[in-house]
Amino acid sequence: MCGIVGYVGHKSATPILLEGLRRLEYRGYDSAGIAVLHRGRMKVTKAAVRVDELRDLVGDGSPGTIGIGHTRWATHGPPSEANSHPHFDTAKRIAVVHNGIIENADVLRAKLTGAGVVFASETDTECIAHLVAAAMESGAATLEDAVRIALTEIDGAYGLVVLDLRHPNELVVARNGSPIVLGIGEGEMFVASDVAALVRHTQRVVFLDDGELATLTADDFHTSTLQSVRTAKTPTTVAVDDADYRLGGHDDFMHKEMAEQPDAIRRALLGRLDERFSTSRLDGLRLDARELRAIRRVKFLGCGSAYYAGQLGASLVEELSRLPADAEPASEFRYRNPVVEHDTLYVAVSQSGETADTLAAVQELKRKGGQVIGVVNGVGSAIARECGRGVFLHAGPEVSVASTKAVTNMSVCFALLATLLGRVRDLGVADGARMVSALSALPDHVAAVLAQDDEIAAVARKFKDARRMFFIGRVRCWPVAREGAQKLKEISYVHAEAYQASELKHGPLALIDPDMPSVVLVPDDELLTKNIATIEQIKARGGPVIAVTNADLPEGLADAVIRAPRITRELDPILLTVPLQMFAYHLARELGRDIDKPRNLAKSVTVE
Ligand code: F6R
Repeated sequence: MCGIVGYVGHKSATPILLEGLRRLEYRGYDSAGIAVLHRGRMKVTKAAVRVDELRDLVGDGSPGTIGIGHTRWATHGPPSEANSHPHFDTAKRIAVVHNGIIENADVLRAKLTGAGVVFASETDTECIAHLVAAAMESGAATLEDAVRIALTEIDGAYGLVVLDLRHPNELVVARNGSPIVLGIGEGEMFVASDVAALVRHTQRVVFLDDGELATLTADDFHTSTLQSVRTAKTPTTVAVDDADYRLGGHDDFMHKEMAEQPDAIRRALLGRLDERFSTSRLDGLRLDARELRAIRRVKFLGCGSAYYAGQLGASLVEELSRLPADAEPASEFRYRNPVVEHDTLYVAVSQSGETADTLAAVQELKRKGGQVIGVVNGVGSAIARECGRGVFLHAGPEVSVASTKAVTNMSVCFALLATLLGRVRDLGVADGARMVSALSALPDHVAAVLAQDDEIAAVARKFKDARRMFFIGRVRCWPVAREGAQKLKEISYVHAEAYQASELKHGPLALIDPDMPSVVLVPDDELLTKNIATIEQIKARGGPVIAVTNADLPEGLADAVIRAPRITRELDPILLTVPLQMFAYHLARELGRDIDKPRNLAKSVTVE
């Protein structure tokens, strides 16, 4: 949610900043801007445009070798040039880019206005620039000190970079609740919200912690706390390939990331299947057999698609381990003052590892003594670090706002967790072996679904004029239906609602008519005949049906059929999720939508 970049070194900053912003655009694309300093002048270009258009506005730009940039997801004030970052103090000496929300912005704005400041924007960020300027005027010894003084007045979340006309060789960076990573180069330093913006230049990085500041010059960096205590940070090397951030022949990242799913699953399984004992190994949990047996309940917490994946995880855990399990939106959890049980295993689920609501749920759990593990894609992310143990998804970087390969890998990791919990309880060797072999076979089965790209595109074309759709699934496939509806609405803007097949006749059946297609999930399981009956009920009321199935359905039952292979009943829902991603993708394409950057959304929701 908002992307920030900064550069100080010996090269021209402008192209580095623009390229960094392009890599971070998934975090918000309401507006973009850069400020570059050269020979005592700050060259600023900002507007309510995407980064590509900003590039055109910048033209040759400034030759300066220090600068900052921002791509915005609007919180305070609509997208406009005035509200675009960077923001400045009145004298236009201090420039700030910021990701997060200043909660006491109204109080600060009133105070600053009272002191004669005239605001140029409606943003919360502008307060920071004025506060830093005021601290400089009051005699702060260094820019870092001025930022530190300003931050003592601020409540809320921030990842920010400050550039000062009078300190032309340094950037000051601070973090509290929004991610900041420093890139350590040779005679040059980078800062960004995400390694995506850095890996072209360096793989040596330092992740700032909450409450930490850093000062960067071309040759050096140092970090300290808000209380001025120096902190020791050793750069680590991130194993991220720049190719992960290139389209590589695909039209968009969502298509690329769907296609990567077989390899992503293989990475998630690597070293985690134990054929000898027909179980899985998840060393990152740091739980031995006795501790695993002491768990009495499992609760999954995540937001959006991560929550739906958690529902699928709960169903896997209950089925394979017979432990009671459920999922809850992390965004609601802490506000209902939850009862935290000490023998419950809480599982925080997040692709980015930065989602503010999920992070806050983890912090609330820890405060109450709950045992929480992270199932996270972002290595070094806030949730991964806060949990301190768990399971990494190894899906690789996900750029498209709509999550695909990470969601699939969440389900795969939950299947591993469920098998592990099951095998220390009542799950027998034969069933354990069945799970191990089904998981090993999963990547090839997913590849078989992906090979039906043209057929699924044809189904999407047939239903492209629908303005509303039902996604129907039950029991194991209920979370699949919810995720299918989520994918469709977020990238196509077609209204999609998920319902349990069993609940249709209790109300929503009234909505069925020839303009309301239903995507019905029909796994080949013990509810097959009931799901077939549901399709007949919909058809009897004139509703078109798209069946997504791995069963042999009666000829002519549905208006369109998307087929998937069978694996084993517990894992079939994972496989049935993939055609729904593809259906949403192709339907959105038919409608000419901006697939990777759907309106009003951003990846990595670091504000509440
Ligand atoms: C949907 C989607 C969102 C995220 C949600 C949580 O495609 O991507 O619903 O799943 O914002 O994000 P993470 O997993 O990063 O915590």
